[in-house]
Amino acid sequence: MKLGVLTTGGDAPGMNPAIRAVVRRSLALGWEVWGVERGFQGLADDDLRPMEHGSVSGIINQGGTVLKTIRCPGFKEPEFRQKCYQNLSQRGIEGLVVIGGDGSLTAGKLIVTESPISLAFIPASIDNDIPGTDETIGFDTAVNTALEAIDKIRDTATSHERVFLVEVMGREKGFLALAVGLAAGAEITLIPEIPSTTEKVTNILLEGQKKGKRSMIVVVAEGAAEVTDLAKEIGARYPGEVRYSILGYIQRGGAPSARSRYLAFLFGSRAVEALAEGQKAVFVGLEAEKVVTRNLLEVFQKKTVDQNVFRLAHLLSA
Ligand code: F6P
Repeated sequence: MKLGVLTTGGDAPGMNPAIRAVVRRSLALGWEVWGVERGFQGLADDDLRPMEHGSVSGIINQGGTVLKTIRCPGFKEPEFRQKCYQNLSQRGIEGLVVIGGDGSLTAGKLIVTESPISLAFIPASIDNDIPGTDETIGFDTAVNTALEAIDKIRDTATSHERVFLVEVMGREKGFLALAVGLAAGAEITLIPEIPSTTEKVTNILLEGQKKGKRSMIVVVAEGAAEVTDLAKEIGARYPGEVRYSILGYIQRGGAPSARSRYLAFLFGSRAVEALAEGQKAVFVGLEAEKVVTRNLLEVFQKKTVDQNVFRLAHLLSA
């Protein structure tokens, strides 16, 4: 088999270990492997390079993706996709491993319905918002990166007896914020799935102050509120100093954690094996700590945060 591998969407720590697993597992099967530069744009531009054993040396501990990635709106255009299929066919590439986020799942489904390409999808995103898997590659690393930053913010919050609002990524979901808020012992975690109000947040902070808390942390998912506005509104109601910090893109980088590398290894190897078994449209995921494969075309149910974890997070920090 001639196999292509690409990364697409927002990069995630662990993409490189996943590329390494896909390449090495394929070469062990005697396959020819082609790395596609810059995701689906590279497919359309026929921008591919041969991947040998050495092509993926020294990347297991590197954040980002050596194949680069872009967000590719062009893929919505049928002509753009036909160009991709044509380039793959001209090279005799019959299989494709797509490593990416939620948006890339849709692209993968289009490819398997519109072309003869066999495709395996590997969920990689710091948001952990991809249905069909308990966890995505990169999520654990981002949680730990954000946690380390919040522990540092808590130092200065304690010293100055301030309330700090800390915005974390996660797009429209609260998976990242909830995991970080719980681990950081945040007094409040705001997520899009459970709307709140300035008044409610302020009242919880006032309750905390009454219990003698002089500094508190509020983790805010970027999809839940505009942290700069929220800080101003709370600052006008809360009798103490309020500051905010937007963690931003540090959550996308850094050396992949052991857990992210472990998922990358499992998902990458299993994706290649599923294609070797003759599967045509594969989604590789994690379910109760086991790697599972699903029919890519049947992965569509939306994924929701565990509201009990949300309640517990607030109970423990009260
Ligand atoms: O999907 C990963 C993610 O980091 C989201 O958490 C964030 O909202 C988005 O990407 C940022 O997109 P971009 O990298 O295009 O600015």
